Amino acid sequence: MRTIVSTGRGGTGKTTFIALLTKYWIKKKSLLLVDIDPDENLAEMVGIDLQKEEIKTISDILFDIQKGRVNDELKSLPRPVQIEYMFHLCLYEGDGFDLFSLGAKWTEGCYCQPNNILRSIIPKLSKNYDYTLIDSPAGLEHLNRKIMSEIDSIVAVVDPSKKSFHNVRRSLGVAREIGIKFKNFYIVSNYKFSNSLEESVKELGLEHIGKIDYDENVEGYILEGKSLLGLPGDSPAFLSVKKIIENMD
Ligand SMILES: Nc1ncnc2c1ncn2[C@@H]1O[C@H](COP(=O)(O)OP(=O)(O)O)[C@@H](O)[C@H]1O
Ligand SMILES: [Mg+2]
Repeated sequence: MRTIVSTGRGGTGKTTFIALLTKYWIKKKSLLLVDIDPDENLAEMVGIDLQKEEIKTISDILFDIQKGRVNDELKSLPRPVQIEYMFHLCLYEGDGFDLFSLGAKWTEGCYCQPNNILRSIIPKLSKNYDYTLIDSPAGLEHLNRKIMSEIDSIVAVVDPSKKSFHNVRRSLGVAREIGIKFKNFYIVSNYKFSNSLEESVKELGLEHIGKIDYDENVEGYILEGKSLLGLPGDSPAFLSVKKIIENMD
């Protein structure tokens, strides 16, 4: 059982990275995918239409519970118990992986409630899988609120911008400050790095485990809403991720 979390600025390729890890391990390992980004891109990138599957998000069930839209038998139970009973409505169980999403913001500016739930659900659930792959939003709140108590690897996907480097330093600081237990904090440089720029990653002083090459198929597939699991096996981005996995401990 290993947990891998993506982090980094918006648009660096975090969700693509998680989708390509999925492509690598699918059918070889049991996988739980968790989308804690309110933008909810992960399902689409691995070819799942949650609405069509009638799968709810954590935010959806919280909303239902708040509005009293739950079975009568559940109504008298404490909220956390109601949530546990309803969680199965959020879990997509597929052939090669299971997946659930946090969903849209719960109330404006407040993630605390869904985050508290994730904190109790993820550690319990992830025990049943070889890998739990968590796709996170650009901000740092997911780390701040301690959703996960134990993580194997945090992987920061960076672009060559100063802002991106700054974001990584802050994430690492936050993770340490609040005492998240993690074994590794890795850097992956994204497709925007030229070979000459790549040297600059060293200034972060963190373990750099590879670069994801530019891949026009990735761009095209995402644009068309196609599953990245369907990328050809010799796609540059997928080959990059294979190498990166070999470099992870
Ligand atoms: N290896 C790549 N090659 C080309 N374009 C990429 C690659 N990875 C990501 N992209 C582009 O970057 C965009 C953002 O990627 P995404 O994984 O959604 O980033 P994030 O999750 O960090 O916001 C994608 O829509 C795609 O156009
Ligand atoms: Mg994303």
